[in-house]
This record gives sequence, structure tokens and C-alpha cells, in this order.
Amino acid sequence: MAESENFYRNIFASLVDGILIISADLRVTKVNQAAEEIFQRSRRSFEGESLSTLFPDQPNIIKKARQSITEGISFHHVEGIGYHKSNNGRFPVNLTFSPLIKDDLEITAGIILIQNTSLLKELQENSQQTEYLSTLSTLTTGMAHEIRNPLSGIRGSAQLLLKDLKNSDQRGYMEIVIEEVDRINRLVKKMMDLTHPSLNDFKPTNIHQVLEEILILEKGTLEVKEGAFVQVYDPSIPTIKANKDELKQVFLNLVKNAVEASPKGGRVRISTQYNTDYTFRKKQDTLSPHNIVVKITDSGLGMTTATMKKLFTPFFTTKKRGTGLGMAISLKIIENHHGKIKVISEENIGTVIQVFLPVNK
Ligand SMILES: Nc1ncnc2c1ncn2[C@@H]1O[C@H](COP(=O)(O)OP(=O)(O)O)[C@@H](O)[C@H]1O
Ligand SMILES: [Mg+2]
Repeated sequence: MAESENFYRNIFASLVDGILIISADLRVTKVNQAAEEIFQRSRRSFEGESLSTLFPDQPNIIKKARQSITEGISFHHVEGIGYHKSNNGRFPVNLTFSPLIKDDLEITAGIILIQNTSLLKELQENSQQTEYLSTLSTLTTGMAHEIRNPLSGIRGSAQLLLKDLKNSDQRGYMEIVIEEVDRINRLVKKMMDLTHPSLNDFKPTNIHQVLEEILILEKGTLEVKEGAFVQVYDPSIPTIKANKDELKQVFLNLVKNAVEASPKGGRVRISTQYNTDYTFRKKQDTLSPHNIVVKITDSGLGMTTATMKKLFTPFFTTKKRGTGLGMAISLKIIENHHGKIKVISEENIGTVIQVFLPVNK
């Protein structure tokens, strides 16, 4: 008996969802570890706390909790807002209410199962941006094709002219024509990357190798600013199925942005983690509980809320010579890998970009 009690206690403690046990007068009598984490408070501080403090101003939740105990019925997928006493913050939750039925079939308590859906909500917001992106992409591909053809004509002619020119001033001008045409060409190529129906030739890919290969490229630029990369890699990360070249492009864009935002002596931290806590829905609506997270943290200038809103919009840039395509292309590639991008940024403090990629088992 003692052993089985222990067994149930372990289940209670190990669940990733929060559990609140509430009494008939809707006060908390017991919580598990996940609930402590979700509400960011200690077990002891929960005791005797009324439900309306944890979920303020939500009569619907109080009503459901009461009904589950008095009428012995359960409710699933009830959305609500939880309250963080420590920082006065609020967070979205998904709740399940069940009556706690004792051996004598009497019900004097209720169980509330809690999932913090903050991350899910944020990630869903990004998905809306992808839809917008795909509409816009149709337009840009069309344009890109139309621009490319005359451009190659211009470049070819300019090169022929350059051969015949003897005057060095004139040669200089013609060289500028060619350089600028090349610049447009690179831009057009990037625009086309936005729409490329991505090849799904995914191969087992080691994310640390991808990161190392691109950090070498950017190391010099950061060193000019007297800054440095700090790598914190989780050795337990499995390989993922991915298109390595595309992922390199993503992390090059993200690391470049972090380096460009960094102040003198700034550090850019690249960390990886094997994550089994967060679950999020993939496009096909199946759950992928195993994913890897690559986190890029800079202590740079950060972003205003206005910049954050337009971050993934193609051609949005705040830089003199920026293209505004880096984030848009990155989002597209990550979505194609059934992953997600999460951004947290604070002006004058820095930016954290998290890329979630599913691990196919
Ligand atoms: N790490 C970062 N820190 C501050 N701002 C950033 C960061 N990453 C992106 N941004 C903002 O988002 C904009 C768009 O980024 P991106 O799509 O890569 O285009 P670009 O780098 O060419 O401007 C940038 O111009 C910048 O304002
Ligand atoms: Mg960029």
C-alpha cells in the first residue's frame, strides 16, 4: 500500500500539466509542482487561496468549478486567464474540471487540470503572418521573374561596352552599372527564395554542425566590434530531419541580425536545448512533444513594439542597407520544417529569438 501511494504521488509530481485540488468552498487544498511553476509561487502560498484569486474576474470558471463538485460533472477545454501574484502578470490557460470521487462515491472536492497556453498562443500569432506571406509571395515571384530577364540583358550589354571603353572615368561608370545590376540580381534572388516551393529533401541534420558552420562566417564581424559568441550546446540533442542549406540560411540571417544589433563589446549567445516540455501543434494538427530549441540572444538595441509587429513582413527594415527579407525568409523556411519562431525583445536591452524544430521519432 505504501508503495502504491508513493507511485501515485510520483505521478502527481511528474505531470507536466498543473493540478489544483479544490474544496467545496472553492479553496485550494493541494497543488502539484507544475502548478507551482505555472503560477510562479510556492506550494505553501497556495493553501487556502480562493479560486477567484487565481483566476480573477471570471465568473464562468467559478461556476464550472462549483458545478463539477455539486453536480459531479466534468468540463473540458475551458479557456481562462491565470494571474501571477508575483509580477501582477496574466497568462492564458486551458482548464479541465473534474469532480474528485471518493471510495464512498461522495464528492466533496474538485480537480482542476491546467495548461499554460502562452507559448501556443504566441506561436499561433506567427502562423497568421505566414499566411500573409504566402499571398504576398505570389506577387513577388511574378515580379522577380519579370525583372530578371531584362537585367541579364543590361548586364551583358554593359560588359560588352566595358571591353571597348578606354577612358578610365567611363570605365568606372560602367563598372558601377554592373555592380548595381548584380545588387538587384541578388535581391531578386532573395525575393524568389521567399516563394520557392521548398524542396522537401530532408536529411538527418546535426544542428550544432549547422551553427558552427555559420558562426565561423560571422565571427570576424563581431570581433571588429570587440564582441564574441558564446555557445552553450545541449549534447543530448538528436539529429533532426531537415534541409541543411535552408537551415544555414535561417541561422545566418538570425545571427547576422544579432551581430548587427550588438553594441561594442556585445556578446551573442547561441544555445540549444532538447525540449520535451512544450508541446505545440504542427500544421497537420498532430502533437509533437519532442522538439529542439535554438536560442539566439543579443544584448543589442532591441525592438520597439512597432518593429516587432512588422518583423516578418518582407522588405520591412530599419537599416540603411537592409533588405528586410531575412526574417521573412527565415519564417518561411522554419514553417516548412514544421517549426516555429518565437521573438522576445526589449528596447535597449536586447532580443531573444527562439527557433523550435520538431524531432521526428
Ligand atoms: N536581433 C535583432 N535586434 C534588433 N532588431 C532586429 C533584430 N532582428 C531583426 N531586427 C529588426 O527587424 C528588421 C528586419 O530584419 P530582417 O528581415 O533580417 O531584415 P534586415 O536585417 O535586412 O533589416 C531589422 O531591420 C531590425 O529592425
Ligand atoms: Mg537581416
